[in-house]
Amino acid sequence: MLNFTFQNPTRIVFGEGQIKALRQLIPSGARVLMTYGGGSIKHNGVYDQVKSALTDVVLFEFGGIEPNPSYETLSKAVEMVHAQQIDFLLAVGGGSVVDGTKYIAAAARYDGEGWDILSKQAKLKDAVAMGCVLTLPATGSESNGFAVITKQATQQKLSFGSPLVYPQFAVLDPTVTYSLPAKQLANGVVDAYIHVMEQYLTYPVGAAVQDRFAEGLLLTLLEFGPKAVQAPQDYNIRSNLMWSATMALNGLIGVGVPQDWSTHMIGHQLTALYGLDHAQTLAIVLPAVMQQQREQKRDKLLQYGRRVFGLEHNDEERLIDEAISHTRAFFEQMGVPTRLADYGITAEAKAAVVAKLAELKADRLGEHGDITPDVVQQILQRAL
Ligand code: NZQ
Ligand code: ZN
Repeated sequence: MLNFTFQNPTRIVFGEGQIKALRQLIPSGARVLMTYGGGSIKHNGVYDQVKSALTDVVLFEFGGIEPNPSYETLSKAVEMVHAQQIDFLLAVGGGSVVDGTKYIAAAARYDGEGWDILSKQAKLKDAVAMGCVLTLPATGSESNGFAVITKQATQQKLSFGSPLVYPQFAVLDPTVTYSLPAKQLANGVVDAYIHVMEQYLTYPVGAAVQDRFAEGLLLTLLEFGPKAVQAPQDYNIRSNLMWSATMALNGLIGVGVPQDWSTHMIGHQLTALYGLDHAQTLAIVLPAVMQQQREQKRDKLLQYGRRVFGLEHNDEERLIDEAISHTRAFFEQMGVPTRLADYGITAEAKAAVVAKLAELKADRLGEHGDITPDVVQQILQRAL
């Protein structure tokens, strides 16, 4: 196992009816800006629940944060934080709202152009305190220090991370996910699954605890993901999915192990270029990365096939092929197509993605840094 330090400061408040706890969670006397997306919270009762929990609070609102939140929209919220002297941000929504709010928190206390936090990875000295009510289990953003923001003007989708933007608390009420459209639910399951894979499918370092946690999360998502689509209002299924998605990217399974993240890096470029949903891009790229990197990832692919899918062949090549095809079949079963062609994207994407990665100087991806621009092209060729 590699050396590590681990601290996750986010207080998780889990379960049905927990939105009421906001009253105690928000610091008394705070001037609060509640942020949200395109309006789903007004249709499923979450907005009303939050408002009634915060009747005694000085509360402002900023709605309209879009999926793949944009710098352009978020900059307006930064102005509002200054104008209204906001000192606490409450994100109510999915990963995009939580990520967007992290950017608002950081940019409002950054003395300079906010986009530098992403484009130049400018160091943060301060951020507005924040908490969240999560409505879509997927990204893990509710208890990590990362955010992914898009600048529409330049079609750039970049990320930043800082301990200063961990939410202080995350309210996770599985019942608020009942209103999710099947597509968003499936996207969430696939995203969480691939977060685990990016931290698990590298090479063995003797980290048995992390491996078994990761395999447990994968098995849980495989079991409950398809069931959730069939039974939209099953509390047990939704709770297990919600907790899996949080655990997949709260840092725990990633400590002391090598990590990959090439699927995400390539996927973000596909979103920036073609507007695909985050999870759709990952479902396209991961099976191709597994195939392309099968030698480098050989030991873990075998372990994954045996422990997660129960494969038992002596023929290792066949076992790896089946581990990859089972993974693809799971995404397809969830209703997330796994080929570029399924989204009308052609071979031109190969050069376009490589050009985008070159702009970011991201020319050595993967746990060994061996996914060069040529290899990215081969991965995308396999994904056509
Ligand atoms: O905007 P509203 O009206 O709220 O509707 C949203 C949105 O249209 C809807 N939705 C959310 N909760 C709902 C609901 N509809 C009905 N009922 C509910 N309970 O779902 C749509 C998608 O929401 P979004 O927040 O965009 O989805 P998700 O949570 O998948 O977030 C995706 C974003 O997170 C980033 C992605 O790149 C993408 O920008 N990621 C963030 C990460 C992180 N911070 O650690 C890691 C991830 O890998 C990912 O990159
Ligand atoms: Zn993701």
